[in-house]
Amino acid sequence: MLIIDFVKEQRTFSPEEIELLLLVAAQIAIVVQKKTVEDTKSTFIATLTHDLRSPTIAQQKALEVIMTGKLGKSLEDFSEYLEDVYRINEEELRIINNILTVYHLESGMFRIKLALANIQAIINDTVRTMMPLAKEQEISIVQEVQSDLPEIVIDKDEIGRVIINLIGNALKHTYRGNKITVGANRQNNEIIIAVSDNGPGISEENKSKIFHRFPTEKRQIGTGLGLYLSKQLVEAHGGRIWFESEVGKGTTFYFSLPISHNA
Ligand SMILES: Nc1ncnc2c1ncn2[C@@H]1O[C@H](COP(=O)(O)OP(=O)(O)O)[C@@H](O)[C@H]1O
Ligand SMILES: [Mg+2]
Repeated sequence: MLIIDFVKEQRTFSPEEIELLLLVAAQIAIVVQKKTVEDTKSTFIATLTHDLRSPTIAQQKALEVIMTGKLGKSLEDFSEYLEDVYRINEEELRIINNILTVYHLESGMFRIKLALANIQAIINDTVRTMMPLAKEQEISIVQEVQSDLPEIVIDKDEIGRVIINLIGNALKHTYRGNKITVGANRQNNEIIIAVSDNGPGISEENKSKIFHRFPTEKRQIGTGLGLYLSKQLVEAHGGRIWFESEVGKGTTFYFSLPISHNA
């Protein structure tokens, strides 16, 4: 029996009492931890719903315009709207695929599929994918890729996904009319890939949280999984990811990929 009396003077607890107190403390810790996980989950579901809801509404609107028939009956009459629907759909797929990969990573089901790949080709593909989004914001994407890069053994889809996440972030945080640079260079036994923007930069306060799952700062849009996932993917390749950012000047995200012995 433990008697916690609220007396001012100190008293010594018996070994049994200490054991009981430790047990109670452990139970409280479990409850607190559960609550944190629950809170994180609800925040995640809220942002996810928001992220998927907005593009779905945008698609719905575009489809409604097409269906009124006001634009005409032939494909050319509404092709612009169809392209919008397609592009928004791609965005949704990216969000969904990010979540799936995080789930696979965390449940130990994730496997990278390694093969010899060309970084220049991957960058070309990712830039092509992101171009419509960039055009819409009047942002240009400039490539600065060293011409004689060796091929490397990587999972080209997953590395493409990292670059797309970084370009996506840069687009989200760059002002209309600005440019984003995607570069790649060889440094010793690594290829360093860099995505730069001249947006608002990352505040000191947020710098330490940027690679966390669901960073806690107030965001307008985003599930907060992109950088977390990118870090996992880069590290699964034996690489590193980091950034340099200055408030008011812009941000550059870098990641390295080892050039394997067989390349
Ligand atoms: N290029 C950037 N410039 C400024 N802030 C950035 C940039 N990239 C990422 N961030 C910050 O890092 C946070 C986490 O990014 P990310 O993991 O991709 O999640 P999301 O894009 O879904 O918010 C963003 O919400 C944003 O605050
Ligand atoms: Mg992102």
